[in-house]
Amino acid sequence: MSFPYVRLRRLRKNDTIRNMTRETRLRLENLIYPIFVKPGKSVKNPINSMPGIYQFSVDRIMDEVKQSYEAGIRALLIFGIPEKKDDIGSEAWNDNGLVQQTIRKIKEKYPDIAVVADACFCEYTTHGHCGVISGNGELLDKPTLINLGKEAISYAKAGADMVAPSGMIDGMVGAIRKTLDQSGFQNTIILSYSAKYASAFYGPFRDAVESAPQFGDRKSYQMDPANSDEALREVALDVEEGADMIMVKPALSYLDIIHRIKENFNLPLAAYNVSGEYSMIKAAAKAGYIDEKAVRDESLISIKRAGADLIITYFAKEIAEEGKIS
Ligand code: PBG
Repeated sequence: MSFPYVRLRRLRKNDTIRNMTRETRLRLENLIYPIFVKPGKSVKNPINSMPGIYQFSVDRIMDEVKQSYEAGIRALLIFGIPEKKDDIGSEAWNDNGLVQQTIRKIKEKYPDIAVVADACFCEYTTHGHCGVISGNGELLDKPTLINLGKEAISYAKAGADMVAPSGMIDGMVGAIRKTLDQSGFQNTIILSYSAKYASAFYGPFRDAVESAPQFGDRKSYQMDPANSDEALREVALDVEEGADMIMVKPALSYLDIIHRIKENFNLPLAAYNVSGEYSMIKAAAKAGYIDEKAVRDESLISIKRAGADLIITYFAKEIAEEGKIS
């Protein structure tokens, strides 16, 4: 059967029909909102390159948590900008660190918020790399994995529901799973940044957490943007090592990767709509070049349509506050 009997426009006739037959939907419960904690008191510091996003001190962070909770957000990803940096990032496993304090505060007031702690070291090291560096500048797996275990336990103890290793260190999921289980945290979820690319779209984030590498780049651990088969290998290893959920990052230039992973694996898949993707929309809208909300919604639905179950996005709170999706 074909035209004139088949007319696809029939199902596009009006809003009601289009709503009934829409294939993909954005849901609030699938959004994860990142928040940034900074040392100090009464700090609410705007991040210039990310309009609408702030760094908060621990005493102010609950304002942001409350607002997003009341708007309907139920999942937060926490990043800390530590007071002290050193060459191995030891502040990351300080039980009284900023992230740990924030997790405890959130879980005390809102036990039903799913708290995700990003487990990495780039924010915590003086050199800005994601682990322990050898004398000749190489990132070392073994000592980094030991430290990742300590960091994961510290977050789990503070009450994190999920630990999200983001350093692209070989063996990170297995090492964290083993350490968590040995310490009685069998129920802590691991959301692995399985396919994280060495991307220029992280630029604004590095301003936000003050974590730009002081020498070299991250290409020896993050993936080459030209690769796709390799992403499937990364995911396969993480699944074997015990990841509960996996992630592709960034999202918009990697929709094909999201799609391939969803077709090949059957566990929850998150996509990180990263800082550069957010800032570009904000900047173009400010210049009057695009319709901000329409471009935002189209971008987010494309991530879902590609196969992502969850989206980490800086837009989460404003979308929730608009109240149009549930
Ligand atoms: C590393 C980390 C990064 C982001 C999240 N976790 C940056 C990086 O690898 O340089 C980027 C997030 C974004 O750009 O929004 N801890």
